[in-house]
Amino acid sequence: MNIDKVTLHTLIASKLTLAGLSADYAAVMADVLVFAEARGIHSHGTVRVEYYSERIQKGGITLHPEIRVETTGPCSAILHGDNGPGMVLSKQAMEVAIDMAKEKGIAVVGIKNMSHSGAISYYTQMAAEAGLIGLAMCQSDPMVVPFGGAEIYYGTNPLSFSAPGRDNIMTFDMATSVQAWGKILDMRSRDKAIPDSWAVDASGKPTTNPHDVRGLLPIAGPKGYGLMMMIDILSGVLLGLPFGRSVSSMYADLSKGRDLGQLHIVINPAFFGDQQTFLDNVQQVMGELNQVRPAEGVEKVMYPGEIADLEQARTEKEGIDIVDSIYDYLKSEHVWINSYDHKDPFAESH
Ligand code: NAI
Repeated sequence: MNIDKVTLHTLIASKLTLAGLSADYAAVMADVLVFAEARGIHSHGTVRVEYYSERIQKGGITLHPEIRVETTGPCSAILHGDNGPGMVLSKQAMEVAIDMAKEKGIAVVGIKNMSHSGAISYYTQMAAEAGLIGLAMCQSDPMVVPFGGAEIYYGTNPLSFSAPGRDNIMTFDMATSVQAWGKILDMRSRDKAIPDSWAVDASGKPTTNPHDVRGLLPIAGPKGYGLMMMIDILSGVLLGLPFGRSVSSMYADLSKGRDLGQLHIVINPAFFGDQQTFLDNVQQVMGELNQVRPAEGVEKVMYPGEIADLEQARTEKEGIDIVDSIYDYLKSEHVWINSYDHKDPFAESH
């Protein structure tokens, strides 16, 4: 089913309000989900609505959180989120960070006690749209083996960075695992083998059978493992939250808050040199990357985030393709149909 952004936004927001969320909060969540879908980040778009709706209805996301912004220093703050919707809290925390960085040059804002925040480039792009550099990272449920390990410890802890150029924004946004769990689910559903670099089985050995997967692998071996560690320290340990394997599971109990953490770092280029020169130079980098001689079989070298920019421009014109079953669910009167509650993270169905 192909639909335009506005219709998709309305469908998602209606479902979330049906689940019990206020219209204002539902609109913010729909913004972030449509952003992901429009930019081709399907793992964090419409496919998640049913899960969020079930969690909202079962009480695992605080509907009316007591949000408190605690300024802890000249350039630092903590947003206490009371396990409200992660997307609402993350957006608000980025607004706080943007205002602080405009005035002080740099801002470090932690979000304490939140639910899942989706595709985190949404927040770093907010900073870049304000002419600032944005960095975001967050905790995610444990599904990844530490380098050399046979059991899971860290989450797929994502990292996003955005820098503004004169005309475009350069963004990278990635999980620190080789592949998102959703990609393995997709291969399971098609009964297709996966590359042995994606995941391990119960004994910790790399596997090509998606049904045997019991742990994901970090990107680039020990290097991705190091990044996961860094993200868990900065967005969890630093904020006094559960860390490592104690981070809550996405599916363990949908009636409970997840107590996740996220960190935003925003830098104002004007405090480090001339703002206009910075914008010009970032733009120049993008142009130079596009001019790099491509390897055989590659049409063009793209700047980080360009694929998503191109997809966004395309879907703006041509609409967004939604999986039929998801469209049917969004149109239905059900808050949720297939329960995600108490699922083993590596279970076959979901
Ligand atoms: P991905 O592997 O699809 O892309 C990673 C990055 O590489 C992107 O910035 C993409 O634009 C860039 N890229 C891809 N191909 C490229 C090319 N040919 N040239 C230049 N750049 C290229 O992303 P991944 O790791 O699957 O993450 C998907 C989403 O999942 C992200 O939005 C992330 O924030 C989100 N996520 C959120 C979590 C949460 O708990 N909130 C947990 C894990 C992931």
